Amino acid sequence: MSSGARGTEEAAQPERSPVTITDLAAMKENGEAIVMVTAYDFPSAQVAEEVGIDVVLVGDSAANCVLGYDSTVPVGMEEMTMLAAAVRRGLKTPLLVGDLPFGSYEASNELAIASAQQMVKQAGCDAVKLEGGGASVDRAAAIIGAGIPVMGHVGLTPQTATALGGLKAQGRTADKAIKVAEDAVALDRAGCFAIVIEAVPEAVSEMIVNRLEAPTIGIGAGNSTAGQVLVLHDLVGINRGRLAKFVKRYADVRGEIKLGLTAYAEEVRSGAFPGPEHVYSVEPSELEGLRQRLDSGDLDSNYSWDWEPLP
Ligand code: KIV
Repeated sequence: MSSGARGTEEAAQPERSPVTITDLAAMKENGEAIVMVTAYDFPSAQVAEEVGIDVVLVGDSAANCVLGYDSTVPVGMEEMTMLAAAVRRGLKTPLLVGDLPFGSYEASNELAIASAQQMVKQAGCDAVKLEGGGASVDRAAAIIGAGIPVMGHVGLTPQTATALGGLKAQGRTADKAIKVAEDAVALDRAGCFAIVIEAVPEAVSEMIVNRLEAPTIGIGAGNSTAGQVLVLHDLVGINRGRLAKFVKRYADVRGEIKLGLTAYAEEVRSGAFPGPEHVYSVEPSELEGLRQRLDSGDLDSNYSWDWEPLP
């Protein structure tokens, strides 16, 4: 039994109503920053709930952060659905957005709708996110037409990073920036309830944001967006390796896990763990009863040994 099991947390949180897409629009209008973060499992979803995050994204960054792939391309619908369902079980109030992984929506509107429905029906997501402009705008419109809210994603779109020249900032020339702006405007007109802008110069992002109805969520897009998103494993320091320029580390969870595991390994090896406070006691009379039964050969009475013992 884990002390983190469901229902054992001390939950003295003030009540908060579930965040809706209407709330996000109102937050943009009121200049109230939207806080979004990724999560891929039950305990981190619980923490996002406890600290009052507005939007939780089960990002396909799960591919790198928790599944060990070297890009977001390999992760599939089954994996994403399983992770999103775990996150759902840890959340009550943040809006839950499930990322549609590469290959789950591009080929047709029918495929896009089916994948979005899977995220909503099987994982309990409130909305889905997809990447890019072009055909993705049609896919977004089709999913919205089927009754599922869609978050767009422009600028650096990791699923198609190879075609963009790698994981690097986008929109740094007028020609490239106009493409980002066109994609964002098209997704806005298609009815996306919010649009992520990733790795775009702050000044470019500002020009785009001002032309959109939907709230924008920036990641490496500066301060003019209605909200910000970061990958949980980057911001709390679980990931190893080089970080993108736009990441700020707020904690060193990997370091904390290392400290804990190192101390545990040392104590197991030295015999210091488990200590007297971690073991169960038994009445001396019961122990004596056990000793007598073991000594009298009682051990075999509940089993018939009709197989050959292993050599
Ligand atoms: O997958 C992800 O984590 C994302 C965010 C970076 C927006 O798409």
